[in-house]
Amino acid sequence: MYIIRADNLRHSYWRSASAGYSLDGVSLTVQPGEMLAILGRNGSGKTTLARHLNVLVPIQEGELTVAGLDARQQSNVWKIRRTCGMVFQNPDNQFVSSVVEEDLAFGPENYGESGDAVAERVRRVLEAVGMSGFERRSPHLLSGGQKQRIAIAGVLALDPQVLILDEATAMLDPQGRQEVLEILRRLRDGGEKTLVMITHYAEEAAMAHRVAVMEGGKLLGEGPPRQVLADRELLDRAGLLPPMAVRAFYDLEREGIRLPACPLTMEELVDMLCPLS
Ligand SMILES: Nc1ncnc2c1ncn2[C@@H]1O[C@H](COP(=O)(O)OP(=O)(O)OP(=O)(O)O)[C@@H](O)[C@H]1O
Ligand SMILES: [Mg+2]
Repeated sequence: MYIIRADNLRHSYWRSASAGYSLDGVSLTVQPGEMLAILGRNGSGKTTLARHLNVLVPIQEGELTVAGLDARQQSNVWKIRRTCGMVFQNPDNQFVSSVVEEDLAFGPENYGESGDAVAERVRRVLEAVGMSGFERRSPHLLSGGQKQRIAIAGVLALDPQVLILDEATAMLDPQGRQEVLEILRRLRDGGEKTLVMITHYAEEAAMAHRVAVMEGGKLLGEGPPRQVLADRELLDRAGLLPPMAVRAFYDLEREGIRLPACPLTMEELVDMLCPLS
């Protein structure tokens, strides 16, 4: 059972083959509870794919099913958008109120919930993103990482099955990025949400269950992070650098130092190097 199933999606913003395709025959499946990273350089088609998953662009060619709903049918579009919550790059563009709790209540109230149910929901999502106590604050006056956590809480308040994060850490400083990644780790481990994380950082993709690599509107390859992120040739074709730990692994190998396995994170690299010293 897949929650997302894309079959040969093809898309051109100009609706013309001569202008080139932004998606060019993308087939992809995602299982419920899975965390999939979509990794690709600028212009590779990541956002276009994300827009398809939420039917923000019409399906031109190919098929897409989300939670069993055919995305080509207009009558399914709203249900699909409720199934897939989107978090974007710039947290500032995602707030509708200048008070955190009102911002978080907006979505559920729009869907007809009221009173205690909404208050309870707001309490739970603030807890989920580690922002309890910020109810009366203005989202615009928070740090970048805190803003993005509130934006994620706002999407969680609608209880979507799938969370799509389009470069949600791209505008954050290292600390803000860590804060958001920690939330994603928790959601991943909770297993209740399906996560589609779009990124051009190979380091971030390491935390996913599976990584799909995009280039020129195509999926170049996919698999577990340990396989994909250590595949220098594949990443090179996608115009990407492997994670720093992978680069260090191959540099050490060239110098005659062979580690027991290829590390994906600096923590893993350090753990492997320590016994050698
Ligand atoms: N609104 C648009 N109109 C016309 N062409 C577009 C539009 N949005 C994207 N494109 C083109 O479609 C292709 C894929 O773009 P897309 O935004 O999906 O890439 P991306 O991987 O998300 O890039 P980035 O990392 O810069 O966000 C690119 O060639 C881009 O120029
Ligand atoms: Mg993009």
